[in-house]
Amino acid sequence: MVMKRRALVTGGAGYIGSHTVVELVHAGFEVVVVDNLCNSSREAVYRVEDITKTSIPFYEADVRDQEVLDEIFETYHIDSVIHFAGLKAVGESVENPLRYYRSNLDSTMTLLERMAAYDVKTLVFSSSATVYGDPQHLPITENAPLSATNPYGRTKLMIEQMLEDTVRSGGDWNITSLRYFNPIGAHKSGRIGEDPHDIPNNLLPYIAQVAVGLRERLHVYGSDYETPDGTGVRDYIHVVDLAKAHVAALKRAPHPGEYKVYNLGTSHGTSVLEMLKAFEKACGRSLPYKIVGRRPGDIATCYADPTLAHLELGWKAVHDIAEACADAWRWQSRNPEGYATSEPMHADVEILAANA
Ligand code: NAD
Ligand code: WQD
Repeated sequence: MVMKRRALVTGGAGYIGSHTVVELVHAGFEVVVVDNLCNSSREAVYRVEDITKTSIPFYEADVRDQEVLDEIFETYHIDSVIHFAGLKAVGESVENPLRYYRSNLDSTMTLLERMAAYDVKTLVFSSSATVYGDPQHLPITENAPLSATNPYGRTKLMIEQMLEDTVRSGGDWNITSLRYFNPIGAHKSGRIGEDPHDIPNNLLPYIAQVAVGLRERLHVYGSDYETPDGTGVRDYIHVVDLAKAHVAALKRAPHPGEYKVYNLGTSHGTSVLEMLKAFEKACGRSLPYKIVGRRPGDIATCYADPTLAHLELGWKAVHDIAEACADAWRWQSRNPEGYATSEPMHADVEILAANA
């Protein structure tokens, strides 16, 4: 009999975590989720259970809670961990840096200590393209110089360093940091997606909320960058492609004693105005916007060289921007209030969208 592999997913109720749990179950993994729901809803995991027709053990707890981690490792035979849990709002990290250092660093240290105690040595970590700061060369390869421009980014850099030191210390650790570029889109079912608790910081959820009538217009942060249309250029990657990369990272034959880093992007740059046009096509109407000043800390252009992930993980992004916008719109239009929207309500949403 083939033993199923079981992964612990921290932050599995969140945007990327919930999509990854779906792909893990489809790939034959059993999954346990721990999430303190500080930026997500229990409903996301219920919907994942429904999509996958699988029961998923869920612990509402902070990853810094050592007793809960011990209970999980004692109850389930876990052989790998994917660590999504973390605070991620750049602006908030500038206002309250200690909260970010305390939460993101402590949770990773507690997790590593408990993994070591239970001899679980395979970890995949959510890093970010933010660790490249303002890149000197494009597309960005994994060996580009690292720097961070805000406390959030510095927590990612520090954690990557912590992970590399842990592997170097011996003990057969097998750790992978995945540096995500700009995740967008939603699951095809329209039942899970990105559900910001406050005003969205990121471009795509903001556009989606304009499209559904929750916000008046998009503010385009700057049209005087050195880019083809003057607006910022980013590498937007479909969240389901991203989710599948985590499965690929876990499936890669274990290489004990190895610390690996991969860019997860598409290699294509898309401007703010191009993204707006793509979303207009997806939702079938034009969307109001206003050009305003640059957002402090923003860079002009950022896109990945994802070749290494293709060569070593056999992974490559396959969904394009049009598909990601169509999927994001399906999620947003069916769930205008995110997970607070009760299902099913497709007819009501069509009316709401038409009146917006
Ligand atoms: P998210 O906020 O939707 O998911 C993070 C989840 O972790 C949430 O469900 C939250 O409740 C939970 N959480 C936070 N701190 C916790 C703690 N101490 N204990 C337990 N649960 C905790 O964010 P996301 O977009 O899904 O991002 C997932 C990871 O990917 C984060 O680490 C983020 O920094 C990283 N990342 C995200 C992006 C992006 O643009 N979305 C880009 C690069 C990297
Ligand atoms: C994309 C483009 C904006 C909102 C951030 C974090 C990064 C990573 C991903 C976690 C830029 C423009 C945006 C709006 C706009 N997160 N924009 N109006 O800045 O590339 O990266 O999210 O790791 O760390 O910094 O993504 O979606 O915020 O912005 O014009 O209302 O859209 O100026 O050019 P960004 P974003």
